[in-house]
Amino acid sequence: MERRPGDGSAGDVDYGAIGAGYARHRRPDPRIAAAIDAALGAARTVLNVGAGAGSYEPLDRQVTAVEPSASMRAQRPDHLPPAIHAVAERLPFADRHFDAAMATFTVHQWADLGAGLAELRRVTRGPVVVLTCDPGALDRFWLHDYAPEVIAVEAGRYPPIAVIAASLGGRVEVRDVPIPLDCRDGFNEAYYGRPEWLLERDTRLACSGWSFVEPAMVARFVETLRRDLADGTWDRRWGHLRNTPQFDGPLRLVVGHP
Ligand SMILES: C[S@@+](CC[C@H](N)C(=O)[O-])C[C@H]1O[C@@H](n2cnc3c(N)ncnc32)[C@H](O)[C@@H]1O
Repeated sequence: MERRPGDGSAGDVDYGAIGAGYARHRRPDPRIAAAIDAALGAARTVLNVGAGAGSYEPLDRQVTAVEPSASMRAQRPDHLPPAIHAVAERLPFADRHFDAAMATFTVHQWADLGAGLAELRRVTRGPVVVLTCDPGALDRFWLHDYAPEVIAVEAGRYPPIAVIAASLGGRVEVRDVPIPLDCRDGFNEAYYGRPEWLLERDTRLACSGWSFVEPAMVARFVETLRRDLADGTWDRRWGHLRNTPQFDGPLRLVVGHP
């Protein structure tokens, strides 16, 4: 069943409640953008579904953005086209209308993944490019030790890569996307070498998984991480990550070809 709170959010979170600071923390990372750009190939027209504030929208192609949350639509910068108010599961476009489609950090929130991906496939002639996380690889990150509840929530939300591939049909490529140490896009794993950032409430709120766990659990996480950073426990165990240029974590690009 679709959830449509006041701001129109159609996924499993209410961006009217948690989305206000999204664009500040979730800026597109140029290295991840380059991987998406390569996957879009020669496409001239691109549909971006679950577009949010417009991260990763190519500037040199003709983009149509779809976004159900008013709070997210309002955060789109002036240089991007306004987003259409619609959901992945019912796209208001003709068959094979776009050269390519993209969906970044969004499929885990859709009410009906199979229906949404079938719609992307229907309206797209060429590649459908999905940036997502492999739920089986989320526990490779130190956050699993400090906030296993958050990792468990995310593991339950992100669809298995094989399910995404089967829903897309056709020929599907799965590419690992390394996460750079200074990643500009603030999803949880982006802080693998910068743990202090996750002590900040606004940083956590830009990752919707934190809105599913109890405040007492979050308070315990902050207290424990703060203590371990202060007394050197975190650095003794994980300090090498502060100088590890990239993290081969759960980020994946799933590219479906017709
Ligand atoms: C984590 S944000 C990602 C936004 C953007 N793509 C990015 O990479 O920053 C997830 C977005 O998916 C949108 N969304 C949730 N359910 C959706 C659905 N059924 N159809 C389309 N978009 C949806 C949310 O409103 C939200 O803007």
